[in-house]
Amino acid sequence: MRDQVHVCKDAESLAVHSRNWLVDRVGRHQADPEIKTPFSLALAGGSTPMRLYELLSELPVGAIDWNRVLLLWGDERNVPADHADSNYRMVKESLLDRIAIPAENVLPVPESGGNPQDAAEAYERVLRERVQVRHRKLPRIDCVLLGLGNDVHTASLFPGTQAIEEKSRLVVANEVPKLKSTRITFTAPLINAARNVVYLLSGAGKSEALSILWHAPFSPEQFPAQLIHPVEGTLTFLVDKDVMGDIPLPETVMVQLI
Ligand code: 6PG
Repeated sequence: MRDQVHVCKDAESLAVHSRNWLVDRVGRHQADPEIKTPFSLALAGGSTPMRLYELLSELPVGAIDWNRVLLLWGDERNVPADHADSNYRMVKESLLDRIAIPAENVLPVPESGGNPQDAAEAYERVLRERVQVRHRKLPRIDCVLLGLGNDVHTASLFPGTQAIEEKSRLVVANEVPKLKSTRITFTAPLINAARNVVYLLSGAGKSEALSILWHAPFSPEQFPAQLIHPVEGTLTFLVDKDVMGDIPLPETVMVQLI
């Protein structure tokens, strides 16, 4: 299936379209009598997805059956859950505090308590236990939301870091020298096992990174987001016009103006 690019007129339209896109995917999953597993949704960190999470929290009751959704985090900073930099805290404030979702369905990265390797291993065990669908023995997450950094990182797969090389682990602690910190992140094999991978990109600041992602020669050490190609899943770019600028579209994508 060809990669999809949905171009929205501005950031707010992008957030609304992204919410509608997710409601549609979750709704179809939950309406399918053949599907007995909850919809697993891995959330992106950073600032771009916050408005989407707010819009999800404002949905009418029942638009999404949160009892049948598992919330995961695609990456986390090595900080306590109440720290200003915590992706969990960002989601708690923009979504979790405003919806009725069973606590057991909310699966953040465990606090590392100073040992991110242990936290990564613990999270990998949680994913293997709670995400029951498999793709070639890997947990098959229904939807992984991703952002894109200006350095073409995604999740916490940063240029020149160890996690880029990971071929078997699902979650690793990844030392990021440029941030002077260690992150906990999904690996490319786990992301690529997903049913749907969705980039959510807004603003002209993302334009160069997207152009590199699409058009630069394959060099994942430099441009880690180039590692992301779902093996048997869909890849969708939900963007606004400012991101698109005048980037030529790859032949491999199907574009929709929203
Ligand atoms: C994080 C994210 C990271 C983010 C990009 C884009 O923990 O920061 O997972 O990969 O998605 O850096 O961040 P913005 O949306 O803030 O531009």
